[in-house]
Amino acid sequence: TDPPPWVLVDRWLDGVLPAPDAVVAAQRTADGAGLPPIAVSTQQGRLLALLAASIGARRALEVGTLAGVSAVWLARALRGPDPVLTTFELSEHHAAVARENLAAAGLTDVVEVRVGPALEGLARLAAERPEPYDLAFIDADKPGNTAYLHAALALLRPGGLVVVDNVVRGGTVLDPGADAAARGSRAVIEAVAAHDRLTATVVQTVGSKGYDGMLVARLDV
Ligand code: DHB
Ligand code: MG
Repeated sequence: TDPPPWVLVDRWLDGVLPAPDAVVAAQRTADGAGLPPIAVSTQQGRLLALLAASIGARRALEVGTLAGVSAVWLARALRGPDPVLTTFELSEHHAAVARENLAAAGLTDVVEVRVGPALEGLARLAAERPEPYDLAFIDADKPGNTAYLHAALALLRPGGLVVVDNVVRGGTVLDPGADAAARGSRAVIEAVAAHDRLTATVVQTVGSKGYDGMLVARLDV
């Protein structure tokens, strides 16, 4: 049976609006290493890059590196002196693949991959009193979403963006009985709604990664 039309459209879009070679190479390495096929799609990756570029982002934070596909997208979009992407990954194996991809992309000096539980890593980073970040991309274990949101907000500048991946999950966001991931995605949407300094939307998406959605929130100035 034919793939659904949104998959065919994504394939066509990926030909018309292709990923840069560095991203294609990173994706190929990820596939070859047998990592779960859950990296951002090409069109989603470009959306991340466009969001970063639109706010003139120089410093970005990522929770959930996996093979570094989104890290390549984000790091390439950063501008200005001393661009920095700090990305957290639980798995030493995933982090090793990501470092290989980032090195091949010439981004070793831009991206720091920190291995371990992200919540601990984010607390350690906050204790270092870093310069504020312009954008945070949260794309790790979904039950952790709300904790990652609050930890990221503590590091974000006013006017900065938080993007959370996979908040619709085929519609299971409506069904708290579905699984812990669905509950985590629902919780982070409710958390941004309850926050008095966030302006947020959820963009429902279909494409090569199925039916899902991305939350985009801006910390008010
Ligand atoms: C899953 C996680 C992701 O980050 C993603 O983009 C798609 C699926 C998952 O754990 O099911
Ligand atoms: Mg994801």
